[in-house]
Amino acid sequence: MPHKTPSFLVKRSLAASRTFNPIRNLVDHMKVKPNPNLPLIPLSIGDPTIFGNFPPPENVTSLLGGKLTNNNLHPPTVHGYPHSAGSWDARQAVAKYLTTSSYSFKPDDVMLTCGCSQAIDLAISVLANPGEHTILIPRPGFSLYRALCDSKGINFEYYDLLPHKKWQIDLESLESILRVRKDGKKIGAVLINNPSNPCGSNFSPSHIREVIDVVSKYNVPIIADEIYADMAFNENDKFHSFSDVSQGDYPVVHVGGLAKRYMIPGWRLGWVGLAHQSGHLNEVKQGILDLSQLTLGPSSIIQGILPQVFEETPATYHFNNLVQLRENAETIRRGLEGIEGLEVIPAEAAMYLLVKINPQKFKHVKNDVDFAMQLFEKESVFVLPGEVFQIPNFFRIVITPPKDKLEEACNRIQRFCSKHLTNI
Ligand SMILES: Cc1ncc(COP(=O)(O)O)c(C=O)c1O
Repeated sequence: MPHKTPSFLVKRSLAASRTFNPIRNLVDHMKVKPNPNLPLIPLSIGDPTIFGNFPPPENVTSLLGGKLTNNNLHPPTVHGYPHSAGSWDARQAVAKYLTTSSYSFKPDDVMLTCGCSQAIDLAISVLANPGEHTILIPRPGFSLYRALCDSKGINFEYYDLLPHKKWQIDLESLESILRVRKDGKKIGAVLINNPSNPCGSNFSPSHIREVIDVVSKYNVPIIADEIYADMAFNENDKFHSFSDVSQGDYPVVHVGGLAKRYMIPGWRLGWVGLAHQSGHLNEVKQGILDLSQLTLGPSSIIQGILPQVFEETPATYHFNNLVQLRENAETIRRGLEGIEGLEVIPAEAAMYLLVKINPQKFKHVKNDVDFAMQLFEKESVFVLPGEVFQIPNFFRIVITPPKDKLEEACNRIQRFCSKHLTNI
């Protein structure tokens, strides 16, 4: 007689029910459909591969086949388990890649991860205990920071960025949170994202110095999310890392990866790099090594080609991408310039820019979410509302689509705005 299973619902865990991705949530709950008469222009997802105008470096894609076919008979092959923090050759290659004239990374201070997302996860996990520590995160900022803290039950607080000061950190806002700890919780880390998603900003070395000066009064480590490192596209404003400016004198947990600069987000190769001249982060290093044993890091195949990725990609590849990003940012700035009710905050780096909306200028548009939804429904242009990044009354544009698509999107945004303009 077959056993009949009684009907019951298997419950999900607390960690799962606390995990919330605001972008997924917005997309999944969108009730509106794009205008069927206009082709969709997605300016919403930070994946530069969508339109084909930012291909990966040719030398990098051709490396893959070689590793799989040539190396499979003679051990050590790329087919076995690598060290949980990554193969030594790959860690050495990342250390060399991160090293500047001011700070030399040691290979054993580098740990490889599944994308920069896992690097951020490890950095937060190793620096904060649930209920005991607070992580300070930027507003506006990448939504994963909050999602990770929520999922782990770790407290977080926002410090502000200033739109009309090139999105620099509001040092007063930051210091007031560091100084006044009424809740008795210790600060686990200040998480900084430079260049920034969603702002497209790039801090000057003097601003980075100011930030380190403020944070260092409170002996709190910095997590520097530098996944957009070296993607500053204005000719005279180079990217500077926190480890370079601090010269390793202040503990910085750098996180980065291949996703954006090499245009291969799907390859999932990231890293943590510890900058600490005097060994401030030795215990943290051991903690990350222990945590990395839970997942054993990224694919051995990608690790196997990493040294050549860095050594053999021509400088012209990066240069040409930066030229295209600069032109695209300029196309959007010009395309939206002068539209009543909108203000473009110019971008200098990464793949995004933010546009400020004055909802009072528009009929039947209550806020940024409403703006984004109606623009999608009427003009088939998909931008993300600022709410997703904790900055209401802004929207984010991804600047990687080809120029003609961006021009068309700007024309449609202009048409949408002029149709909805109030007469006051
Ligand atoms: C600021 C920031 N940090 C980290 C990541 C995650 O990078 P990865 O795709 O390597 O996990 C992203 C991805 O968009 C990002 O914008």
